[in-house]
Amino acid sequence: MKVLVVGGGAREHVIAETAAKDGDIYAVLNNLNPGITDLAAEYIKADITDPEVVVNFALEKGVEVAIIGPEASLEAGVVDALEKAEVAAFGPRQKAALIETSKAYMRSLLEKYKIPGRLAFKVFDDVEEMKQHIKEVEYQVVVKPVGLTGGKGVRVEGDQLRDKDEAIAYGEEVIKKKIGGAAQVVIEERGIGEELTIMAFCDGKDAYPMPAVQDHPHAFEGDVGPITGGMGSYSMDSGLLPFLSQEEYNQCVDIMRKTVEAMKKEGNPYIGVLYGQFILTKDGPKVAEFNARFGDPEAMNVLPLLKGNFPEICIKATEGALSQKDIEFEKKYTVCKYVVPEGYGENPKYGYQVKVNRKEIEKQGCKLYFSSVTKENGKIITTKSRALAMVGFGDSFQEAEESVEEALKFVEGEHLYVRHDIGKEHSLKKRIEHMKKVRKGVFL
Ligand code: GLY
Repeated sequence: MKVLVVGGGAREHVIAETAAKDGDIYAVLNNLNPGITDLAAEYIKADITDPEVVVNFALEKGVEVAIIGPEASLEAGVVDALEKAEVAAFGPRQKAALIETSKAYMRSLLEKYKIPGRLAFKVFDDVEEMKQHIKEVEYQVVVKPVGLTGGKGVRVEGDQLRDKDEAIAYGEEVIKKKIGGAAQVVIEERGIGEELTIMAFCDGKDAYPMPAVQDHPHAFEGDVGPITGGMGSYSMDSGLLPFLSQEEYNQCVDIMRKTVEAMKKEGNPYIGVLYGQFILTKDGPKVAEFNARFGDPEAMNVLPLLKGNFPEICIKATEGALSQKDIEFEKKYTVCKYVVPEGYGENPKYGYQVKVNRKEIEKQGCKLYFSSVTKENGKIITTKSRALAMVGFGDSFQEAEESVEEALKFVEGEHLYVRHDIGKEHSLKKRIEHMKKVRKGVFL
């Protein structure tokens, strides 16, 4: 089967690798990701947000299903254009992608259908009204641009924003500078607890969940520093997390299933991967975000463990014909650590060569996924964003984590940085202790 992958990051590398088990890969990417170009029968370097370019390539190569990686392509209507050209496309249409591309749409949908896991929110385009609201509410707030910001526009009072004054100042900046593409800002109640991700395959009717994953968005060890696209992640053989019970996992999945049901009722069916980012509070899981795609890095924890035929799953999703038996995963612990340019998230030092010894990495049982790197004269060169991800697998956190550290010894380059604490015992314990305190109502 001919499968088209749209996008050039590590998420798309693992999508391509998984699809390549049962298909021939064709790719449209905006950076020459060496992982994807090595896998692809044919590829073009082009604008992945240009529906015409994607459709023309798909038709020319006769692809049977297209898998869309990044939200920018979804927002641009790539799925709608492929459908119009009668190419099966795994991903939500532009209107259904609003679940990610408009924070206001997502919050209003949850409100309209009284879906559990809601946090208080208001949308403002008037700076004075926003100021008044932030001063009045008793809870800490999260300030979110309404539109897309590559995961880097959200700021939290008590974390990146010291107090309400800083929250007001940032909210004003979002409105005045139209951060996220609109002169609007969402002011949300801050949920206190550990964050986690659950992704689900959706076929417009229902949601079929994957194992839970925890990402590490802060740039530096100890969960400090600027918020990034994600520095690494882990998952467990049980599909749960060290601080997440089966009941809480089920509650999160219930929220996702109700959301897919609500979108069907709205006449806006959701097909593709629904990414639920939850905050596990003392009152249960709350929705922090929904995204309209696989998570990055989270895709690298789960897709290598998918047992079924990935291209078939994607086609079935487009036909509204998925069932639980299609979605099975190997039971393994996984740890993923990103190698990024030093200063990533603030002032990255980029343009340096990275050398990898793939054979030695494979010997460790690890997988390497390239991200925002490019090829110049046969050399792999870093850009401003994440360079490559290393993923380890095992029957315990220790096994998976130690194999990643061993494999990282076979990545060489100047000005590279890794958060080594991800998946280590002390970091896992910190999260378990934090959740214990949250459950007791101690907010730290
Ligand atoms: N891991 C964050 C994201 O994919 O949005």
